[in-house]
Amino acid sequence: MDLHVNKARNHVGIREAIYSGAIFLETQLKTGQQLRDFAKHTIAQVLGPDVDPLVLHTQLSVKEFVTTVSRIKSQFTNSAEVKAIIRDFILELGENPADYLFDVPRLRVVPHYDYLHAGVSYAYKPHRDTWYGSVQCQLNTWMPVFGVTPDQTMSINPEYFSLPVKNSSVDWQLTEWINKERWKASQELTEETRVHPVPLESLNTSNELRIGLNGGEMIVFSGTHLHGTVPNRSGNTRFSVDFRLMHIEDLKAGRGAVNVDNGCPDPEAGFSDYFHADSFHRFQEVLT
Ligand SMILES: [Fe+2]
Repeated sequence: MDLHVNKARNHVGIREAIYSGAIFLETQLKTGQQLRDFAKHTIAQVLGPDVDPLVLHTQLSVKEFVTTVSRIKSQFTNSAEVKAIIRDFILELGENPADYLFDVPRLRVVPHYDYLHAGVSYAYKPHRDTWYGSVQCQLNTWMPVFGVTPDQTMSINPEYFSLPVKNSSVDWQLTEWINKERWKASQELTEETRVHPVPLESLNTSNELRIGLNGGEMIVFSGTHLHGTVPNRSGNTRFSVDFRLMHIEDLKAGRGAVNVDNGCPDPEAGFSDYFHADSFHRFQEVLT
């Protein structure tokens, strides 16, 4: 697996590199810092000035935590500021926002595992985003808001980029998820009862990559990489931001990473969540 450090700006062939499994680690992006600052601002707005977000789970009941976190997430995801930062991120990489779509950015909040690992804080088992209906050309970004250690970060297992994993994606439908499951997140307080696409075989984790990062430092990688949430037993709550980009011409031409094992039958169900990165118009609205 190729790892590029601070090489994403004006990188010729960046998408092709990512479609081949390369990972870009960016520690100096202005837009990464802006995104971190905006996430911190949103968190502080909801929590108030006196609450330390890292120990939020020690101060609230799970029910209160879910309500509070839902407010933070929704305020962040639906803000105009985040859309502008994503557009500026594309510009900072030296690419043209008119060529790209993005899906709504997420702020994820992962408290200590034993406190909550379902619903709004679901700890993702190893998966490819394509199992969840993402397209083969999806570019993933991920960054922590506050610094993270390897025991509370996200994991990527590069070994499986080109190695098939037996999985349940063929029996999972994005349409069902959007219509019947996604909205139930705030009801899942103890166990995750929603069905996710998961591996159906044991995995070799000895080559797993767990990157400790400072807040605002970002990794960019193919959504087809096998990745997941490291069970967070650090004692601190983890806040992270991620968003996904799709190059319009690559999407239309079917370019992207090779599909080694994904069976999700209806990725197009997710297209209505995509925005044009220059105008912020919905992708579907422009098509019809
Ligand atoms: Fe994912």
